[in-house]
Amino acid sequence: MTILRFARILWTLERRRIAPALVLLALVTATEGLGLLSLGGLLAQGGLEGAAVGGPFGWLERALGAAPGFEALLALFLAAVLARAGAAYLYGELAARIMAGLMHKLRMRLYRAVAGARWPQVQGARRADLHHALTMAPNELAHGADVAMRLAVACCVALTAGALALTVEPRVVLAAAGVAGALALPMLWIDRLIARGSRDVFRRTARLYDHVARYLDNLKLDRFLARPGAQGATGSAAFEDASRRQAQMARRVRRLGLRSDLAHQAGGATALAAILWIAAHSGMTAGEGALMAVLFMRLLPRLMSAHELLQELISVAAAFAEYERQVRDFAAAAEPRGPAAALARARGPARVSVRALSHTHPGAQTPALRDVTLDLPAGTATALVGLSGAGKTTLADLMCGLMAPSAGQVLVDGAPLAESDLAAWRAQVALVSRDDFLAPDTLRANLAMGAAEADEAAMWRALELVGFAERARAMGGLDAEVGDRGDRLSAGERQRICLARAILRRPRFLALDEATSAMNPLDEARIVGRLAALRAETTILVVAHRLSSVAWVDRIAVIEEGRLAAAGPRAQMAAHGFLGRMAAAEAPAGLDEAPARRAHPGDAAEASDRRGDDASPRPAEVEAEGAAQAPGSGDAKAPDRSGDETNPRSVGGVSGEGAAQAPGSGGAEASDRPGDEANPRPAEGDAREGAPPRPGRGGAAQPSGAPDARTPPATGGGACGAPAPARAAGSSGR
Ligand SMILES: Nc1ncnc2c1ncn2[C@@H]1O[C@H](COP(=O)(O)OP(=O)(O)OP(=O)(O)O)[C@@H](O)[C@H]1O
Ligand SMILES: [Mg+2]
Repeated sequence: MTILRFARILWTLERRRIAPALVLLALVTATEGLGLLSLGGLLAQGGLEGAAVGGPFGWLERALGAAPGFEALLALFLAAVLARAGAAYLYGELAARIMAGLMHKLRMRLYRAVAGARWPQVQGARRADLHHALTMAPNELAHGADVAMRLAVACCVALTAGALALTVEPRVVLAAAGVAGALALPMLWIDRLIARGSRDVFRRTARLYDHVARYLDNLKLDRFLARPGAQGATGSAAFEDASRRQAQMARRVRRLGLRSDLAHQAGGATALAAILWIAAHSGMTAGEGALMAVLFMRLLPRLMSAHELLQELISVAAAFAEYERQVRDFAAAAEPRGPAAALARARGPARVSVRALSHTHPGAQTPALRDVTLDLPAGTATALVGLSGAGKTTLADLMCGLMAPSAGQVLVDGAPLAESDLAAWRAQVALVSRDDFLAPDTLRANLAMGAAEADEAAMWRALELVGFAERARAMGGLDAEVGDRGDRLSAGERQRICLARAILRRPRFLALDEATSAMNPLDEARIVGRLAALRAETTILVVAHRLSSVAWVDRIAVIEEGRLAAAGPRAQMAAHGFLGRMAAAEAPAGLDEAPARRAHPGDAAEASDRRGDDASPRPAEVEAEGAAQAPGSGDAKAPDRSGDETNPRSVGGVSGEGAAQAPGSGGAEASDRPGDEANPRPAEGDAREGAPPRPGRGGAAQPSGAPDARTPPATGGGACGAPAPARAAGSSGR
């Protein structure tokens, strides 16, 4: 059945070429038969009595008025052999084209199914299986097409030769049929074993791919993990094991093939001996006996080769079944596409919101997000913070249209996104993650990946913005190679290029999911300060684990265990306990401070937890989403009052005054005041639009020798008048 489905797919994809190829095959078959007959005629005329040409040349005899002479038969033989060779050559040419075409089409068929599938389906697939299915499987299947066509030839040749031989010497055909019949049962058994073995080989090969991929992804780690004989999850030991098993399985199938060959040979030899014995004991002439033997020796290999090809096709069928399964599964999970105009490309920053959003990942027991409602006003920057696994990436992915939520809605400019709008929305979005891909290509090719229309000047502007222009010039310009996956660059440099690539797309919504995580806070502060200026044309969402990464934003949202714990303008969010704990954890202990006196971030967090909500308001106390206070009013001022000498650090720059001002200006102003020595807010310092980088100024970013090192350490909840957790922990004598 699988073989028939395979044949149907081949026919569907390459009908245009397969049809003439089959005609050529027929020609090969016909000339083969003609050659066989003229050989018989030649043998007869050569004195082999009894090898009479007989019926097949009767028409020729009638047309010529006499039996064809030796020269005529020789010419016929030569013409037939040459015609066969020519037809076989043309067929070979066509077969090569068919195989090349199939390889590409089969690969693209799966590729399109994967590219068009819903994200969870793609994400859930084993990468190595996909890798194998997209690289090796189409090659195997294309080879299968050649096998299938050669099988068709072999069958045609065997049938034609059999039919013609029947007219020449029916006993030979009967003998060949008898041998084939006798071998049929054991062959069927071997064929089944081969089919099963081939499936195993296929699975083992896919697993080997998995290990190869894992090994190559962990080359560095493997230098440390690999131990001789160890069966690790990654690395050379597992790789070696998978390789050995795959080779063993392949050998087993090969052995079955050899046994099949052995049976063919033994059966053929036995049948030939039987034919000769019959000839000798049935009063045949020597010529008749020799002709029988010659015909049999030509006929039997045709049958054998047809059978061998069938066995090969059985092996290919295993690969085809797996390939088909993948295509079917991905095609069944196709993401619906609406009409192109459904979500028209608008200009300027988008307002992106989620309403009562919940999401459970496929196969997960618990939802990653529960009932989240959040609004990102157009042209603002919002930071999403929360512990690991809180649901930040899931929320960012949903907002970017990577997948549809399990429940609730994502809205763009107030209009709910349908699943059929997702692809169109993604075209207006740029998402930068921590480890985004860089192609083993030039800087230019990597930058142009998402924005083919971007010109050189735009590329340099983007590189300036992310602080990579100087380095790019040193590398030799835009045509410098970045290495395999960017491995000629540092992690932070790779992130800069990914950022520049995203900016070049001029998205209406830019989501940065730990996109600057590999950068030093000083570098990061410089870059995000410049990114802030992009708010004129894009709404920004920043997922970050460091306050220094978010000190420039307009709004902050805190996610806890999949729920939105609080959200609002940065000023008011300063009071949130989670931000306080983050600040405490980030607080640098002065390098000149005695270790015993240093507050351990964990202690600080615990202290903050214990003091908990006295020091920092419960989420409910923080302004509810959508009920933002007027900038500069009420609580928003409170952090400023505490931002004095006794309480020098507001929460990572989450100061009321900063938020009360226009985006991109407030925080910067605050940190520019002379009091900054005691209140250094690194990111803010550079968050002013177009502010020149001032690397030495970062407080939280300052590793040593900074004013922070001399002033009391961070006061996480201090911004809202709470005792500083780090200091409290330190002074509590624990
Ligand atoms: N593909 C997935 N399948 C099943 N569960 C998932 C999948 N992706 C994420 N999760 C789970 O969903 C929850 C939220 O994950 P998410 O990646 O959104 O967290 P996060 O806040 O971004 O964490 P981090 O800060 O560590 O990146 C986690 O419990 C995680 O284990
Ligand atoms: Mg994440």
